[in-house]
Amino acid sequence: MTFEEHDWHLLAQYWYPIALARDITDQPTSSMLLDMPLVIYKMNDELVVAKDACPHRGVPLSLGKNDGQGVVCRYHGLRFGSEGKCNRIPAHPQHKISERFHLKTYAAVEKYGLIWCSLSAEKDAEPHIPHMPFWDDAEYQQLVCPQIDIQCFAGRQLEGFIDVAHFAWVHPDTFGDPEDVEVPDYSTTETEVGFNADYISSVGRYPIGIEQRGQEDFKWLRHFEVSLPFTATLTIHFPNHAKQVIMNAASPMTARSTRLFAPICRNYDKDLPVEDAYAFNMKIFEEDRVIVENQKPEYLPLDLSLEAHFPADRSSSMYRKLLRKRGFSPLFAA
Ligand code: FES
Ligand SMILES: [Fe+2]
Repeated sequence: MTFEEHDWHLLAQYWYPIALARDITDQPTSSMLLDMPLVIYKMNDELVVAKDACPHRGVPLSLGKNDGQGVVCRYHGLRFGSEGKCNRIPAHPQHKISERFHLKTYAAVEKYGLIWCSLSAEKDAEPHIPHMPFWDDAEYQQLVCPQIDIQCFAGRQLEGFIDVAHFAWVHPDTFGDPEDVEVPDYSTTETEVGFNADYISSVGRYPIGIEQRGQEDFKWLRHFEVSLPFTATLTIHFPNHAKQVIMNAASPMTARSTRLFAPICRNYDKDLPVEDAYAFNMKIFEEDRVIVENQKPEYLPLDLSLEAHFPADRSSSMYRKLLRKRGFSPLFAA
């Protein structure tokens, strides 16, 4: 276990994405959340998410295959179907199957093209999935970028996503402007799930090198909605009422590895190949990788006296304060 027990129990109450919905079939897929190896499969329309370990001798079910009636373990052929229940023990076909052979399953739902899971929510409880503006709007196109794995703590990654002072330094090859380094003041507002921030600046979001389709003096609004602990959406207001929303859902596989999911919706360029949008956003996340994988300490210091701050860090300070308020350790995931 890479998390401190106290933090793990708090974290387990939230919902995180664990896979792209389009990758999930009747055949088992493995994932990981908060140090828990998971297996995901479908039985007809039913989604099953369970601990990826056979109750018999601990072999991962993700090594097995679904024969139509369930996932068959590679070692002795136990088969797990609907609700993760064992429905066959080949060595003892006459035996009544005890509950000890059923998989430990978790609450899971599909939303924004992702499979979301909570390790401690009740199965029939209302899932608390972060809100994504405009996803259900018919004027918008929905895209779900391929997931990427990053070797860092999810808190550091999320903080990078809401950081407005690094564009010129980390992203000069995509959308940042090395000449435009100053950060105007902006405001944050606490919400029920975290906080919002509205950042207005002259830094554009069109890929560098393509013809700028806006007015010269256009002021770009970036509206952030942070949903604790590790999800944020960014709504970018382009010229001519065009908008793009990017969700940064950082899923903590362990305290030092993060699986990043990024659904996007936009009301422009809807006829362009989605692969171009995937590639552009992936390039941006890859530019951030070198930073977040090398930050020290690897944990997120919620005690503000442990790192230096300037006014442009308003969002990051708010983020740390609110995590602390929710009870996470001062050295979060140390
Ligand atoms: S370990 Fe899975 S059937 Fe024995
Ligand atoms: Fe970045």
